[in-house]
Amino acid sequence: MASVPRIATATPAIEALSEFSSDVVIGLSHPGQKELPSKYLYDQVGSALFDVICLLPEYGLSRAGMRLLERHAVDVIDRVPGPAVVAELGSGSGQKTRWLLEALARRQRVNYYPIDISSSALFRCQLELAQLEMVSLVGFERAYLDGLHEVALRRRDGEHLLVLFLGSTIGNFDRAAGDQFLREVRAILQEGDTLLLATDLEKPEPMLKVAYDDPPGVTAAFNKNILARINRELGGDFDLEKFEHIVRYDQAERRIEMHLRSKVWQRVTIRKAGFRCYLREGETIWTESSHKYNPEEVVQMGERCGYRCAGQWIDAEWPFAQSLFLAA
Ligand code: AVJ
Repeated sequence: MASVPRIATATPAIEALSEFSSDVVIGLSHPGQKELPSKYLYDQVGSALFDVICLLPEYGLSRAGMRLLERHAVDVIDRVPGPAVVAELGSGSGQKTRWLLEALARRQRVNYYPIDISSSALFRCQLELAQLEMVSLVGFERAYLDGLHEVALRRRDGEHLLVLFLGSTIGNFDRAAGDQFLREVRAILQEGDTLLLATDLEKPEPMLKVAYDDPPGVTAAFNKNILARINRELGGDFDLEKFEHIVRYDQAERRIEMHLRSKVWQRVTIRKAGFRCYLREGETIWTESSHKYNPEEVVQMGERCGYRCAGQWIDAEWPFAQSLFLAA
């Protein structure tokens, strides 16, 4: 049995709850489009539903990411200046990371630091990866940039950082915020450090829509769970039957949007937040965006933000890219 992960001081649960509460109140108080931040989709139930989404034949994204690393991890690592310590933004399932850590472990001992706000995600990552020889893992229960700062502080002279951002989570940011995020990561890095960035690519609209609106309704359940979570944790009274999962593709922004559409006029009360609001019939709560890119655009994005592209790998079956950026 793997040992318990060593996790840097946990965020006090009460603080996390009040942040959730105020983000929910702010998002539902917007005078125009109501919204909820997509990071709140991932409580324990939401994370388990997301794992099921990854098994759906219609959702090729995570399998594409896996295939690319299974095939090209050695090639990626060959282009990473060493010796390198590895920081991963979002510990994910750890499965994709395995290929990279194994490739790196062929040339050095590896310190691997997964960074995730979810302690259960860190724990699962530990179960998946702790048995790898030549790899020591220390998890950070932190927001991405805070965790990365801490990892950077631990760096020894001559050591490089390899930062992994693999889930194509960058797609949840709008394009300007994505740039901003890459710049903030760059500000923590030194020349010669690297960032491996996964992005989902543009593909025909029907292929995208069914990936986010699958026939068995797993993504619908994933989306509605954000309301169920508000009910569970904040004493909300959302009636999930009165909401419908909606997926839109915005051609101009090149993004999939998930919304929850109110089927009727209704009042919602969130007791622990001391909050009440009304939804019109047909009004939506916007819960997630997933931006799609083209490969050249990803290279340019990196170049604008202080990197040089040292390699890009694209899956042929499900257009998806891994790009390796060198801090310039
Ligand atoms: C985890 C952000 C990559 O945008 O495709 C899957 C989340 N939402 N199905 C994505 C998600 C609905 C996913 N990411």
